[in-house]
Amino acid sequence: MKYFVAVLLLAAVVFADAEWKIQTAENLNAYRPECANSLSIPEDKVNEYKKWNFPNDEKTQCYIKCIFGKMGLFNEKDGFNVEHLVKQLGQGKNETIIRPEVVKCADKNPQKTNACQWAYRGFDCFKKAHLDLVQTSVKKN
Ligand code: BEZ
Repeated sequence: MKYFVAVLLLAAVVFADAEWKIQTAENLNAYRPECANSLSIPEDKVNEYKKWNFPNDEKTQCYIKCIFGKMGLFNEKDGFNVEHLVKQLGQGKNETIIRPEVVKCADKNPQKTNACQWAYRGFDCFKKAHLDLVQTSVKKN
């Protein structure tokens, strides 16, 4: 019985994750207004984000958390989803090279900062480590 439940749980996890797809520019375009509206971020600021300018302020941090959340790359409880990030950022690249880079940036929030700061910190690290990967990963699809 124990094993049956364990197998069932494992299957649930695998099938739930099979739903996730690499995020496209269309996905990002849909999420931008949802996140901007929910956080009351003005249009000029969103236009800055589109130019890849992400100032380190509270709204922007929470915007990144919101976008990453919608993309299935981050959630408040577990933090970064390394498997999804490796797929999202490593398209066409060698996963064995990308994975350690992702793991380095996807910290477990040891200092217990708030989730917006946590998401922003990881994103900033991805940007610094492979800006082109983050940008091309959404533009490519
Ligand atoms: C954007 O709004 O362009 C964006 C936000 C979060 C991550 C990547 C891009």
